[in-house]
Parts: sequence; structure tokens; C-alpha cells
Amino acid sequence: MATASEIAAVGVIGAGQMGSGIAQLAAGGGCAVLLLDADPTALSRAVVSISASLRRLAAKGQLSQAACEDSIKRIRCVSAVQDLRDADLVIEAVVENEDVKKKLFVELDKVTKPSAILASNTSSISVTRLASATKRPSQVIGMHFFNPPPVMKLIEVIRGADTSDEVFAAVRSFSERLGKSVICSQDYPGFIVNRILMPMINEAFWALYTGVATKEDIDAGMKLGTNHPMGPLQLADFIGLDVCLSVLRVLHSGLGDNKYSPCPLLVQYVDAGRLGKKRGVGVYSYGHRPSSVRP
Ligand code: 3HC
Repeated sequence: MATASEIAAVGVIGAGQMGSGIAQLAAGGGCAVLLLDADPTALSRAVVSISASLRRLAAKGQLSQAACEDSIKRIRCVSAVQDLRDADLVIEAVVENEDVKKKLFVELDKVTKPSAILASNTSSISVTRLASATKRPSQVIGMHFFNPPPVMKLIEVIRGADTSDEVFAAVRSFSERLGKSVICSQDYPGFIVNRILMPMINEAFWALYTGVATKEDIDAGMKLGTNHPMGPLQLADFIGLDVCLSVLRVLHSGLGDNKYSPCPLLVQYVDAGRLGKKRGVGVYSYGHRPSSVRP
């Protein structure tokens, strides 16, 4: 199994916002990156956004021009899981669906070299259950990045029931090599951050739903009163209301306490397709809004 300094090739699966950000970080950390997505359009979009983000850092003097161009060159786009056969570490950032992730882990277990570490960027799905889909549960681990990955300083590392001490140590050091602080969570619903963050977001929806205050005042209250960079409703739009709802459902079913029951307003917004910033409308509007959605 590779130690942190031996992690030279990193596979990243999923070229969405999280996958692109993770690929950027790994390339910036000197790794050869294989960015995998079945959708060629998603891959081209990711390369454009990673290049723009790195060149912005170079323009601000936070990265030399040479380092910027070298990082871009270190990223290779691929379209099949077999292309990850030489990766020392694979980080998946695909859709938050347990069946999809498990199927992927079964495939990864077959095609990657025996020493490879398999990590999931899951925000709430059990790492132990994902690991059980493989024949190498001691080499499966959670690496939970925060959006936007290049900016946020944290990686939450989740140990599955069988994750070995060696794999945990390698992933911790590798995360630090990417310039991140690490916290370690055992494998319980929502881990540390979402266990605490999502009930706050849910409570903000309850406050809006029950008419305590306007969305603007709820957000201003938390921004200015507790120094959060975004208010909880704005943050929910940024994360995606569907993601918030899915994490709350994992907390509710996994911890069996009604305090995690999602607010009906959040459920209704998701039912209406108001998924947040990515859809142009959530709690707030960001331009085009489908006509079926009421103000
Ligand atoms: N990629 C790279 N850099 C980015 C970026 C991106 N996607 N978005 C912003 N940045 C950089 C900007 O270039 C800028 O850099 P500079 O200060 O060196 O010029 C810096 O970040 C600040 O950006 P902006 O000036 O455009 O905007 P803000 O000051 O409003 O910051 C923000 C934007 C960093 C997103 C800030 O609002 C913030 O921290 N919000 C909270 C984000 C948060 O809580 N994320 C975690 C969500 S929970 C999660 O992801 C877990 C999941 O499981 C749900």
C-alpha cells in the first residue's frame, strides 16, 4: 500500500464541481491526475474551469506561471474505470447514491492495483457499507472535501469499520500535502460537519416556514450575528437543496430522532425542482426560474 509520499497518481471520478476542485488540488500537489467522467462535455467543462481557476491564482501571484501550467498539464481526462489501473489513490465524487457508489467500488476493486487506496467524497453514506462492496475494506476510506475544494481548508477523513491505521495515516498525510487541515470522524451518519451543519440549515427552513422572519433576515442574522460567510439559506442554495435533503434523510433514518426530520418547506422546494444555485432557483432566485415555481 502506498504511503502519502508514494501517492504519485490520483484518479478522480466525477468531473462536477467537487471532482474538478479535487483534481485541481491533487495536480497542484504534484500528482499525475486521471480525471474520469463518462460525459465528455463534463470533462471539457472541468478542464476549462480548473485552468481558469489556476490561472486566476497565478494572476494573483499565489502560484508561479510555470507551476500553474505544469498543474494543468498533469491532468489527463479519461472515460473508463480501467484507465485508473495505475492510480495509487482513487477519490470518487459521483452522485450521492449508495447503489451507484457501491457499483463503482466493485469495479474499482477489480481494475485498480492491489495496493491502491479507494476513497469516497461521500457527504453522508456509510464508508463501511461502501467498503463491504470490495475485497479490500482495510483500504477504503472517506475523504470528505468542502465546496469549493480549492478554497475550503478542511478535509474530513472518515474511517470505516475496517480502515487500517496505515491507510488512515497515508490519507491524513496526503491531505496535509494538499495544504488542508484534517479532522477524523468515525463512520456515523453525517460524520462531524454535516451532523452539525444540516440541522442548522433545517432549523433555518423551519424559521422561514413558520414565519419567524424573512429569508433575508434569517441569513443576515447568522452572517452578521455569528460571523458565518453565508447565511444558512444562502448556503443551502450553494450546496444544493437536494443534497441537504438527502443528508437530513440519512441523519433521520440513521440516528432515529425526529429532530432530524426535514422541514416540509425544504421537501416542497426539492419536489418543485428548486434545487438552489445550480438550477437558478432555490430559496433565492439566480436568474431564470421555471414558470411552474411560485414566488
Ligand atoms: N474555486 C476556486 N476559488 C474560488 C472559488 C472556486 N469555485 N470560489 C471562490 N473562490 C475564491 C476566489 O477566487 C476568491 O479568492 P481571493 O480572495 O484570493 O481573491 C475567494 O475564493 C473568495 O471568493 P469571492 O470573493 O468570489 O466570494 P466570497 O468572498 O463571497 O467567498 C466563498 C466565496 C469562499 C464560497 C464564501 O462565501 C464561503 O466560504 N462560503 C461558505 C462555503 C461553505 O460553507 N462551504 C461548505 C459547504 S458544506 C459542504 O461542502 C459539505 C457537503 O457535504 C454538503
